[in-house]
Amino acid sequence: MDRIRIVGGRELAGTIPISGAKNAALPLMIAALMTGDTLTLENVPHLADVEQLIRILGNHGVDYSVNGKRDHQNGNGGGYSRTINFTARDIVDTTAPYELVSKMRASFWVIGPLLARMGEARVSLPGGCAIGTRPVDLFIDGLQALGADIDVDNGYVIAKAKNRLKGNRYVFPKVSVGATHVLMMAASLARGETVLENAAREPEVVNLAECLNAMGAKIHGAGTSTITIDGVDQLSGASVRVIPDRIETGTYAMAVAMAGGDVLLKDAQPDLLQNALDVIAQTGAEITPTNEGIRVKRNGAGISPVDVTTEPFPGFPTDLQAQFMGLMTKAKGKSRITETIFENRFMHVQELARLGAHITLSGQTAIVEGVSKLKGAPVMATDLRASVSLVIAGLAAEGETTVNRIYHLDRGFERLEDKLSGCGAVIERISG
Ligand code: EPZ
Repeated sequence: MDRIRIVGGRELAGTIPISGAKNAALPLMIAALMTGDTLTLENVPHLADVEQLIRILGNHGVDYSVNGKRDHQNGNGGGYSRTINFTARDIVDTTAPYELVSKMRASFWVIGPLLARMGEARVSLPGGCAIGTRPVDLFIDGLQALGADIDVDNGYVIAKAKNRLKGNRYVFPKVSVGATHVLMMAASLARGETVLENAAREPEVVNLAECLNAMGAKIHGAGTSTITIDGVDQLSGASVRVIPDRIETGTYAMAVAMAGGDVLLKDAQPDLLQNALDVIAQTGAEITPTNEGIRVKRNGAGISPVDVTTEPFPGFPTDLQAQFMGLMTKAKGKSRITETIFENRFMHVQELARLGAHITLSGQTAIVEGVSKLKGAPVMATDLRASVSLVIAGLAAEGETTVNRIYHLDRGFERLEDKLSGCGAVIERISG
């Protein structure tokens, strides 16, 4: 199994290109199920999760080509973000089987488009990162509010809407990104008006609404907590660009704040992560939006401790919590990091401790006592963002850190080691 080897202690200097956002690309790809025409997506990142979703969509009958040519698995040489055309001329199967869905939670979201376009869907209960129980009750309640008949049987959610879904008002009891994506897609092809309240306001929801509107949907209010959708009879093809990855942006900004140096995060968009940028600035890094992206700079003055609590957008994102904890391990004092979105997202704590970090857990809060020195060690992580927090810590640790199980990193970070070594980090992938 591949590993990443890091020799810490180098400052970072140069340019890191920010890729298209994984968490925007996935729902946009799923939206391709909603029309028989071609949906062209630009800036799709080259990631294991994207490849996996291509396989899942292929099972339903979605054909795809990369820049006009049929792609082979990893066939573009593992390159950077690309343009992909998706065409679901005929849906050949409305079942999403356990073997595929269990590998990636977001693939559960096909339930919305399949139900809306075909009147039926049979989708396995999902898998995904081991960060909490992650139920699907909101999807079921919401789709039932649109008139779907739903049964859960043998690990599958079976949804039917023989006479088309019907618009309705639905108030999410809890903010959910995935359930907002699914209900927005389903309501786009429902009869009449749907009003979603307490909807997720994440930029990825806005990107999906823009995509659906370009396909002919009538969605207003995406990016606010009330989204109104006037159902249409059918959607058509469109061409849409995936937004830059705000989590990748925040991750590299924290890497610079941790290791020191001066890096341009090219194509990064500050408004997608203003809260996190403000927090990083409070730790002592200099953050400057430029025409080309965001410049992050930190001199040797040390890292100031800052308390954070994760929240739905526009608050501090849960997907940057582990990386921020990595940064705080070397702060000049104590910080408190509270996780409110997922109940089991502190698995990086014990691995950071292997590098010499002092962290104690009290319920959903981690208390991080900054240390002056981290020391390299072999570590491993059980989810994507936890893995990258270990990379960040390794960059600032003395000596050698080996991060194992890096298939997690490949799910969500495009060419991580190339991007960091391009800025002077000593980091390499070791195969086998
Ligand atoms: C999305 O997951 C992201 N995934 C996650 O990123 C991200 O951490 C999360 O949103 C929160 O921002 C993608 O976009 C592919 P939720 P999602 O539904 O949609 C609970 C990463 O590392 N909930 O907003 O699955 C749930 O358990 C990943 O890239 C229910 O209770 O998250 C959680 O506590 C990890 N019932 C909370 O809501 C439901 O039916 C928010 O989850 C659905 C969710």
